[in-house]
Amino acid sequence: MAKSKPFDWSAPHDDEEIVPRDVRFGIGDNPQLDWFGGDPVKTAMVNSFSIFLPEGERFFIRSLKHYAARLDDPELAAEINGYAVQEAFHTREHEDYNRGLADLGHDVEAMEQPVATLLANVQVPLIRLAVTCAIEHLTANFSTVTLRHPHLFDGAHSAYRRLWMWHALEELEHKAVALDVYRQAAAGMPAWKRYGLRIGAMNTTAFHFLRVLLRNMRKMLREQGHDTGLRFWLRVFQLFFISPGYMRLSMGPFLRYYLPGFDPRNIDDTDLIRSGRAWLAAEFAADGPRAEPAE
Ligand SMILES: [Fe+2]
Ligand SMILES: [Fe+2]
Repeated sequence: MAKSKPFDWSAPHDDEEIVPRDVRFGIGDNPQLDWFGGDPVKTAMVNSFSIFLPEGERFFIRSLKHYAARLDDPELAAEINGYAVQEAFHTREHEDYNRGLADLGHDVEAMEQPVATLLANVQVPLIRLAVTCAIEHLTANFSTVTLRHPHLFDGAHSAYRRLWMWHALEELEHKAVALDVYRQAAAGMPAWKRYGLRIGAMNTTAFHFLRVLLRNMRKMLREQGHDTGLRFWLRVFQLFFISPGYMRLSMGPFLRYYLPGFDPRNIDDTDLIRSGRAWLAAEFAADGPRAEPAE
């Protein structure tokens, strides 16, 4: 494979800019068991999130590209292009990440299967777009939590932490693109129908996301010989709602999606985008000027 030039983290960018960063984290060649502070449940939770991504991100790219050629809006087409390039790099790195999970002994194919089946059932372009908007909102919420509380990844293996910070930053940079497309694509529909489709897609997506996430967490833990009975469920409850409370921390921003006329551009994340960029620039600068984050 051709070697890509290391991404220049010191180059300045506008706050609004969607910046595709061709960075390789090399997780597939060096996968770590219990990489999240030696905690198998936390590790399984985040690994399960990665299982969704290659299938999911290919689906998002397809759903937006369908409209790029149909909507006569060069500015939006440029946004879609930046979005698609970011998501394509995410797909590549999460395929590599998931290859590492397979090398650790996990049945990745069986875990990806329900994701592929669910997404393959969504054939109508506008529904596919509404599902993409829903997933983009969910990922933007988790990204906000990650960038607002970077200490949540304390104790994580460096390559994994960098990958998730990189992914979180880019999700925030492109958080509004799918809904921008949806607004235009559904412009001819009555407002109540546009709202109903957006919310119906969110309800279905959030339900299946949680169901498959928990299913895959349990499967991963069982494959490592861990118990997934009552103690597992108590630990999940603690992680989601108490400490650190991933769901609790993202609940407020999640519910804003239910407001009629919701527009992610009305939530100013400039400080998070700046701090995420600065965090990653400092991380990679610490490798030294001759180091290549791609390796
Ligand atoms: Fe992504
Ligand atoms: Fe995304």
